Amino acid sequence: MDQKNYIKKLRDMCQLDIDAVNAYETALKKIDDKEIHNAVEQFRQDHLRHVEELNNLIRKLGGTPTEFTKDLKGYLIEGMTALRSVTGTKGALKAMETNEFITNKNYAEAVRENTDFPEEGRALLQKNYADEKRHLAYIQATLKNLTAPKP
Ligand SMILES: [Fe+2]
Repeated sequence: MDQKNYIKKLRDMCQLDIDAVNAYETALKKIDDKEIHNAVEQFRQDHLRHVEELNNLIRKLGGTPTEFTKDLKGYLIEGMTALRSVTGTKGALKAMETNEFITNKNYAEAVRENTDFPEEGRALLQKNYADEKRHLAYIQATLKNLTAPKP
């Protein structure tokens, strides 16, 4: 394992999580259902925790922590563009589903491709990936519910 690559991967994932925080912030403004709003706010908090924990590890390894900025670095452009034009809970969730596909794909790859990382890093990537899977499952179940015909 190359230490430089290790830090670079952690910083990459941290940037993805920062983009996700920004996307969730935009989505939350469009979600008017209180219960769904609460759940999605928890997801935003999960991403904030990912950023904090990844940066703590990066610091510990002597790397430069990833700076929190409002401008997207590229991972979630598509979902973010969609988010700006949608209205309402369903539209926001649909756009967030696109984003979650991307975060899930990236975390899945990070876990799969970096089995040589030290235990601490692998455990953190695994834990974050588990959160992403949970976010996507919730969004998809909620969308299904919202589109189901009313009895
Ligand atoms: Fe997420």
